[in-house]
Amino acid sequence: MRIVLVGPPGVGKGTQSELLTERFGAVPLSSGAIFRSEIEARTDLGEMAKRYIDQGRLVPNGVTIQMMAKRMRSAEVLKHGFILDGFPRTVDQAIALDQMLEDIEQPLDGVVSIEVDAEVVVARLSGRIGCTRCGAIYHKVTKPPKRDWICDQCNSPLFVRDDDQPETIRERLRVFDENTAPVIGHYEELGLVRRIDGDRDPEVVFGDIVRALGL
Ligand code: AP5
Ligand code: MG
Repeated sequence: MRIVLVGPPGVGKGTQSELLTERFGAVPLSSGAIFRSEIEARTDLGEMAKRYIDQGRLVPNGVTIQMMAKRMRSAEVLKHGFILDGFPRTVDQAIALDQMLEDIEQPLDGVVSIEVDAEVVVARLSGRIGCTRCGAIYHKVTKPPKRDWICDQCNSPLFVRDDDQPETIRERLRVFDENTAPVIGHYEELGLVRRIDGDRDPEVVFGDIVRALGL
């Protein structure tokens, strides 16, 4: 399986990536999660990315493309395929990805555009909590962990993302409209886009994605 999940912040890309990975065993590749682990490890890349992420802005294309290209070439990805989440996020990144996939002769199976109204994503992100270690995603009201602030899957502490503040969420939504909505247009022209209504139960959304991709 080789797919891209695209959509504004909070539509459920990470949630669907978890479900797809569990079912199909492809490698989940979230550019945001990779940046967050670089930030936690206090690497130079992490320090640089944090300045953009905390303001809801995009990390520059050059470093982002280089970081993702390295992962795309890993033996595991070549063998099991991938579920890209949050990359590509600009048309330049999409063109770079097209080139990477052409080089390894592994075309995309589809691009899943998950769609949810802005008010819904703001409510979702205001209650989101996540795992520092395994990346599992929870919500204080709709998907609470069994024990407060402890991950059900790996027992690590849970956290609230620094960029899940109301002003930063608004900026991320604006950045999506400006930079990432055109990525959907890029893939429309290639006939790869499957549009999915993300405003339903995660399992129902998952079923639609599986059907839309013909899996
Ligand atoms: P990234 O980590 O990719 O964040 P994002 O795109 O803003 O998306 P989110 O992770 O916030 O939301 P999601 O769609 O994954 O939703 P989730 O499943 O968690 O990027 C962060 C930052 O890194 C960017 O702003 C940028 O600065 C930088 N960056 C990343 N990639 C980059 C790139 N390629 N180029 C440049 N910069 C880049 O769900 C959200 C909540 O809703 C959860 O609480 C969940 O439980 C709940 N939920 C999910 N689905 C449902 C449902 N169906 N019903 C009810 N609740 C649901
Ligand atoms: Mg995510």
